[in-house]
Amino acid sequence: MNKNIFLVGTHWGDEGKGKIVDVLTENASACVRFQGGHNAGHTLLIGGKKIILHLIPSGILRDHVKSIIGNGVVVSLEALQDELNDLKSNNIAIQDKLFISKFCHVILPSHQAIDIAREKYLGKASIGTTGRGIGPAYEDKVARRGLRLIDFFNHEHLISRITSLIDYHNFLLSNYYKSTPVSLNETIDKLVPIFKSIKKYVIDVTPLMMEISTNSTIIFEGAQGTMLDIDHGTYPYVTSSNTIFPGMTTGTGIGSDKINYSLGITKSYTTRVGNGPFPTELKDDIGDNLAKWGGEIGATTGRARRCGWLDIKILNKAIELNNLNGIALTKLDVLDNLEKIKIGKDYNSFSDVADIEYLEMDGWQTLTKGIKKLKDLPKNARHYIETIENLSNTSVDLISTGASREDIIFIKNIFE
Ligand code: GDP
Ligand code: IMO
Ligand code: MG
Repeated sequence: MNKNIFLVGTHWGDEGKGKIVDVLTENASACVRFQGGHNAGHTLLIGGKKIILHLIPSGILRDHVKSIIGNGVVVSLEALQDELNDLKSNNIAIQDKLFISKFCHVILPSHQAIDIAREKYLGKASIGTTGRGIGPAYEDKVARRGLRLIDFFNHEHLISRITSLIDYHNFLLSNYYKSTPVSLNETIDKLVPIFKSIKKYVIDVTPLMMEISTNSTIIFEGAQGTMLDIDHGTYPYVTSSNTIFPGMTTGTGIGSDKINYSLGITKSYTTRVGNGPFPTELKDDIGDNLAKWGGEIGATTGRARRCGWLDIKILNKAIELNNLNGIALTKLDVLDNLEKIKIGKDYNSFSDVADIEYLEMDGWQTLTKGIKKLKDLPKNARHYIETIENLSNTSVDLISTGASREDIIFIKNIFE
């Protein structure tokens, strides 16, 4: 079987991508991350055990799957080490399963210091970043002064590049942000031993992906969501990478012709972490209940996620931008208790929150967790799903009704 699948969040992240990737990798040979860094938090629940992945692809739990980090990802060596230790302590094998592009840019402690200092400096105008140094690392990449994993292979070359980079960072930190500078020597002493311990995973991953994508199956795992895309999202309240489909091609070196199916991960309602516009946001008891029932606490920063009704206008934009073939609708069970459910259909602009056209329908008020077939879902739940399909002109091919691997309804075999 050769079928490559591209997967992306359709809104502002945390749609349940990790869970769906984990389900799909049962039938895959590799799982690839292509953008973002440890700002992501992808939660997997297997046999009652919860594992949160930030940097490592969500296929790592499967022994037959190669987990590949493409060149578009920004890598914090400290975060990578922490995550590997966490996986090892959970008895998850890494050896011969993890491959990291030598062209990945590295997030330094000084990038994180700049991210945090800048957010503080911006005050009320802050983005609400995860404070992981993502933005500053991508800035240096584009400015052509960044440090890549490949630079760590030659010590003299590394020292020369890291010295001028941290010198620049410290100038910014001290003089512009009036913040504490970062020690060059401490950074080198910390990062070089970590690099030595992970060096065995660092290769040119593009030929490997080319081979697997030609002969077998890869799941390309998007992090963040469509509306956090640097070009097409709710700028400036976005992340610093292309989260949408083209980010996959540049972040891996694999062409779009290799993708057979693009899957949008859509939560049955909408959430957002951090600042910025959110037209269908609910600042009432319903919003509080969705947060409570959905456990909407950020998997990376522990911040409360803002909640609202499903936004179809954004879903349609995500379908267009990513050329989606189908939707995986997640967290349907979170709506089980509601008497009435709304869908945000249209509005003029992101700031025009008063003028939203909603479609209201009756809830189903029955438990959906554990249901395995579409026909066994309550009638009103099926009506909700059909309404989404009609409004988006796209089929819902998978439904998730709980956090566990087993809580899934396959409507269509997307590998066929
Ligand atoms: P991601 O960033 O898109 O991978 O999503 P997160 O892991 O940040 O957030 C999704 C949260 O919802 C996690 O806590 C998951 O365990 C949980 N989850 C995923 N799918 C479902 C579902 O269908 N129902 C419920 N109740 N929880 C789910
Ligand atoms: P996953 O992959 C939700 C948000 C931050 C902030 C903005 C910029 O788990 O869906 P950054 O640190 O990237 O510069 O922050 O992007 N953000 C996310 N929100 N889920 C994520 O990842 C996110 N990654 C970044 O909250 O608003
Ligand atoms: Mg998340």
